[in-house]
Formats: sequence, C-alpha cells, structure tokens
Amino acid sequence: MEGTNVVILAAGNGSRMKSNLPKVLHEVAGKAMVDWVLSAVEPLSPKNILTVTGVGNEKVQAHIGKRSDFVIQEKQLGTGHAVLQTKAALGNAKGSTLILSGDTPLFTTKTLEALLEEHARTKAAVTVLTAHADDPTGYGRIVRDDEGMVLKIVEQKDASITERRIQEINTGVYVFDNQLLFSVLSKVGNDNAQGEYYLPDTLDILREAGQPIGAYETMDFDESLGVNDRVALAKANEIMRARINEKHMRNGVELLDPAQTYIEADVQIGQDTVIEGNVTLKGKTVIGRDNVLTAGTRIEDSTIGDGNVITSSHLEEATVKNKTTIGPYAHLRPLAVIEDEAHLGNFVEVKKATVGLRSKVGHLSYVGNATLGEDVNVGAGTIFVNYDGVNKFDSKVGDRAFIGSNTKIIAPVTIADEAITAAGSTITDDIQKHAMGIARSRQTNKEDFWKRMPHKK
Ligand code: UD1
Ligand code: CA
Repeated sequence: MEGTNVVILAAGNGSRMKSNLPKVLHEVAGKAMVDWVLSAVEPLSPKNILTVTGVGNEKVQAHIGKRSDFVIQEKQLGTGHAVLQTKAALGNAKGSTLILSGDTPLFTTKTLEALLEEHARTKAAVTVLTAHADDPTGYGRIVRDDEGMVLKIVEQKDASITERRIQEINTGVYVFDNQLLFSVLSKVGNDNAQGEYYLPDTLDILREAGQPIGAYETMDFDESLGVNDRVALAKANEIMRARINEKHMRNGVELLDPAQTYIEADVQIGQDTVIEGNVTLKGKTVIGRDNVLTAGTRIEDSTIGDGNVITSSHLEEATVKNKTTIGPYAHLRPLAVIEDEAHLGNFVEVKKATVGLRSKVGHLSYVGNATLGEDVNVGAGTIFVNYDGVNKFDSKVGDRAFIGSNTKIIAPVTIADEAITAAGSTITDDIQKHAMGIARSRQTNKEDFWKRMPHKK
C-alpha cells in the first residue's frame, strides 16, 4: 500500500484522563500511545505522516521528533476541524489518506493493511474501520440501512435510544480518497450535542453527494480500544502485555504467571529463561538464556547473560554476566557489573562497581565506586565508604582478598591481591599483598561488672 498519506489526530486535551500529560503521551507497555500508532503505520511505507497537535503540542512534537511532520490545531473544535488543519499540507495530494487517532494504540499493521486493501478493492470514497463491541458505550455507532449499507455514524451523545443499541462501532480509523475528503470537510457543521465538527459526519455528506461509502469490520475489538480515561488505559496495558508475553512464550521463554508479568515492548529474552509472576522488565533490558527470575524482580535498562538466578531483586542499568546468583533483595544500581559465577546475597547494594569472577558478597553490604578482583570474599556488613559529602572516591580490592565482616573501606584505598582485613576494621590505608589490615580497638573485659548493672543484684 505504498503511497498512502497518513494523518494522526493528537490535538485533543484528553480531559477524561485528568492529567497534566498530553493524552497521547500516556504509556502502554512502556511506550507512548502515539508511538504505537506510528509503529503500526510506518511499515505501510506511507508517502508522508502528518500529526495534528494542539494541547501540549511542544511536548508531543518533541517526543515524536522526526517520525512525523506536524500541523497545529490551535483550538480543539473537533476531529473534522482537526483534519481540516492539514489542508495546506495535504489538500492537493492524490491517492488515499489513512486517518487514525493518537489514542488508539492497539491497531496492528496487518489490520490497517486489510483496511487499505478493502478500500482499494471497493474503490469507495471512504472506508471506515468498524468493530463489534460487547459494550459500545462512548463510541460512535455505525448506522446501516435495511440492506446493510452504511448510512452514517452517530456519536454516543447524539444517538437515539435505538441507535445506542447498535454494537457496531466506529474505531476512528478511516481511509479516504484524499481529494474527496477535502472537498467535503469544510461542509461539516457543528450542530450536535458537543458543538464540535465531527470527522465522521463526512460519511453522511459523501453518501448524500452520491459517493460510495463503505465499512470494513475487524474481528478483534481489542485492537480498537480507544483510551479516553485511566480505566481504558489499564485495559490497553493489559491487552498489550498479553500480546508481548505471548510473543516471548512462543519464542521459548517460560512465564509461570503471564497475567502478572510486566514486560515492556523492547525487552529481549532468550530461550529457556523462566520467569515467575510479579516480575517487571523495563526499557532496553536484554536477558539471555536459561535464567531464572523469581517473583518481585524488577529489571530496567540492564543486560543479563545466561544461566543466572536472580531472586526478588532490583536492577537498574546494571550488567550481569553468566551463572551468577543474585538476591534475594539485592539492589544493582547504574554501572554495576557482576562477572561470571559471582554471588550477591541478601541486602547487598552495588553501584558503579565491578564484582569479579567468582567473587562473593554474601550479606548486608554496600559496594560503591569499587573494583573487586577474582575470588574475593566480602564478609557480612562490609561498607565501601565512597562519599565525603561532596566527592566520590574509588577503591580497589585484589584477587582472592578476604574482607572480614563489618569492614569499613574508606575510599580511596587499594587492598592488594591476597590481602586480608580483620573483621570490624575501618580501613583508611592501602594493604599490601598477603598482609592483614586490622584497625579496631582491643577488647578489655571488666571483672564483676554484672553487679553494677542497675537492675541486677
Ligand atoms: C472518536 C469518534 C468516535 C469513535 C472514537 C473511536 C469523533 C467525533 N468521534 O470519539 O466516533 O468511536 O473516536 O475511538 O470523531 N482530536 C483532535 N482535535 C480535536 C478533537 C480530537 O486532534 O479537536 C483528536 C484527539 O486527540 C484524539 C482523537 O482526535 O486522539 C479522537 O478524539 P476523542 O475526543 O478521543 O474522540 P472520541 O470521543 O473518542
Ligand atoms: Ca478517543
């Protein structure tokens, strides 16, 4: 269908969302709604894409960037009025024009292609995409005559009681013969319940002018969902999530509770990775094969290799290589790098630090601005003290070093290969190879102290 013009309507204020964010920028599975619309039309290789913006137009245009050209609708006087704003840019164009709304994120390219084919086949002046809704409330209804020919579209607020019973709805997607579209657009009036210039009224006008108008019904109502409020937004997320999860399952990823697994659109996951329910994978996360991610795990913009077991942990902009065990309740923050076969136990936080091959940080520790070599053992409660309130400092721990429990490493400090720190030490100076750093006061035992305890005689 090369050569179609595309218009995306995205100027409305989305008042039913009750939000400061322009409606079409609300996200479904991690992408703005209008991004999904663009992704559905781009594979059609359109001649041009024009987006009509209005409310929050700077934000919307900045977000969309080069994926579209723009026309501004200063006042939101209705969908017909919105399309009329494209007249200078598009009015003389030949061929057909596909019009969609920025708030219908679920259409697939396949459905749009089928609509375009139907339009080309029937040579109608306009073909509207329709769907059967179990609950058509809020949508425009498709009114047909006794022979089943489309007569017009009636908005919910203008519909009679009989018309409201119609379950065939206007999805808000149309293909027009471009010249005919602009020949009737200025004839659309606003004498209706909302005082708006309705794009759907063009069908009635074209039909009265003797032009053939048609409808193409898609069998999947879910694709047509229009997101006008937060309830519909949640529903759109649910549908999109199911689609994404199905794709991963078909690729060999095991989801134990798909309905409770939140995977954003761009996440990649390798085969035989097992994911429990209540796992969230966001952004540009890439996950390899044969991993296990247990409930409560949340991973954002991170790269995970193969064969890891990540238990109820949070990762942001982190890199995890292969065959590690992480968690429960570990927190990997930006620039954490966990090398092969390393282990991070419970309540371990790692930030801008590398934990080397087979190294272990088992319990209750903070590793920040540090490089740990291979086979390092970090005892419970160790803190890398990396911040003086203004600057961050780096520490280095060599291969096979043994860090006693409750060590404080006051950066900058270098602990050599096979060096040791005594438990409870506050390490401020470098430790050379095979030496032990001990920095704590000696224990003294006070004889017969028991009787000096206030309540014990
Ligand atoms: C619209 C249709 C309805 C259809 C439904 C499908 C009209 C009059 N009604 O209703 O028949 O069933 O979509 O989802 O077209 N917009 C502008 N400028 C405006 C008004 C709206 O750009 O002046 C944009 C909005 O940002 C939105 C789209 O057009 O992306 C649709 O507008 P909206 O107000 O959501 O229309 P609905 O009431 O959903
Ligand atoms: Ca809508």
